[in-house]
Amino acid sequence: MVSVVVVGTQWGDEGKGKIIDFLSAQASMVVRCTGGSNAGHTVVCGGNTYKLHLVPSGILYDGVDCIIANGTVVDLKALLEEIDTITSQGFSVDRLKLSDRAQLIMPYHIKLDNMQELAKGANKIGTTGRGIGPCYEDKVSRCGIRVHHLLNWPSFEKKVRNNTAEKNKIFAMNGLPEMDAEAIIEEYKGYAERIKPFIEDTSVVVNEALDAGRKVLFEGAQGTLLDIDHGTYPYVTSSSPISGGVCPGAGVGPTKINRVAGIAKAYTTRVGDGPFPSELFDEMGDKLREAGHEFGTTTGRPRRCGWFDVPVVKYSVLVNGLSDIVLTKLDILDGFEEIKICVGYEYEGKILRSMPADLHILSDLKPVFETMPGWMCDTTACRKYEELPENARKYVERIEELCGAPISIVAIGCDREQTIIRRDLFE
Ligand code: GDP
Ligand code: IMO
Ligand code: MG
Repeated sequence: MVSVVVVGTQWGDEGKGKIIDFLSAQASMVVRCTGGSNAGHTVVCGGNTYKLHLVPSGILYDGVDCIIANGTVVDLKALLEEIDTITSQGFSVDRLKLSDRAQLIMPYHIKLDNMQELAKGANKIGTTGRGIGPCYEDKVSRCGIRVHHLLNWPSFEKKVRNNTAEKNKIFAMNGLPEMDAEAIIEEYKGYAERIKPFIEDTSVVVNEALDAGRKVLFEGAQGTLLDIDHGTYPYVTSSSPISGGVCPGAGVGPTKINRVAGIAKAYTTRVGDGPFPSELFDEMGDKLREAGHEFGTTTGRPRRCGWFDVPVVKYSVLVNGLSDIVLTKLDILDGFEEIKICVGYEYEGKILRSMPADLHILSDLKPVFETMPGWMCDTTACRKYEELPENARKYVERIEELCGAPISIVAIGCDREQTIIRRDLFE
């Protein structure tokens, strides 16, 4: 096996960063294909915590090429800050490459994101405020500014002037101050100089690596239920974080992908607004949030918490074509006497067969729970599957049975070492 796609199966923050970092020990390239700095991927190693937003989570390894591919949306200011942080932490960014086809998030995108959220009032999406949606809007309406425009300064200047003028009409209509295109151009001069050495046609680089038999990891961002098509629309992000998004997002064909691993938290969390059938509003929810330190990596917002939701992960198995599931944060359930699993949804007296598309049904359905006994002991020192307490293994195997895909890795802590392998993803 040479290529493994890693995706989130729920609403993001499943532990993709930790698993990509863990698998990077075996890989020679990690590719980010979609999203931008709305993502917050945490890697813990050697007693230090690293928070990555756009830079692939393989950056802590010498010899791993890290690619920010064409499907991403890039805030240059945020990316350069991230590069500075990584460098100051003693890591090299010499192996980092940025696609010439990636879209640039411009200051007016961030302002539009916040303006749109405010205008929606109680119906806001709860975005990360990073300008993601407005940038993808410009991409699709074919007026976006791409990384290669930085290499042709007159065309970059022209585009910034045109786009700023267009956005200023919207700001004026909403009673907001206009933006100064010349100030943006001036600011970007410095960014352009610094980012130039990283720019490449990354689809060529990735395909060459795959053809040479090098092991490549595709690092998903966000999660399946935040997908623009398959998520809880409109409470979603503006890209395709599912496995299929890797092909347009990195410029590789589906025949080049060998395996798709879906990361699933042993319970469920969501940050931002929108339906969440197994959400807990009682002290159990608070207990999960505290035990799991469930506060957003990017925005610091408290994450909404609930029990493991089988219909969600089963849907992820389906739309991603998952070959494997990686179950994370099992240790967070160590102190629960009883653990519930949402095994289905009931709506108007019937059990639903699949994830409903209609937001009203999603908000009104009743989750059906199954209860399992907890194990009430510390699992964080376990290193082999057999070392897990019997009830923990029963929980893992029940989830596996209900979701219909093998659980190949179980994580029982944020550290690299706290990872139990049942099946090698590169085998
Ligand atoms: P990502 O966006 O999918 O990369 O996930 P985040 O980094 O936003 O959130 C996952 C959080 O859980 C991070 O703080 C990780 O360090 C932590 N984490 C990941 N796996 C485990 C695990 O198995 N146990 C515990 N206790 N923490 C974990
Ligand atoms: P990682 O990669 C969790 C959510 C936001 C909001 C919705 C739209 O760390 O798992 P956006 O700013 O993308 O327009 O916001 O999507 N969201 C995430 N939630 N983890 C993420 O990334 C997210 N990226 C976006 O909270 O509900
Ligand atoms: Mg995250």
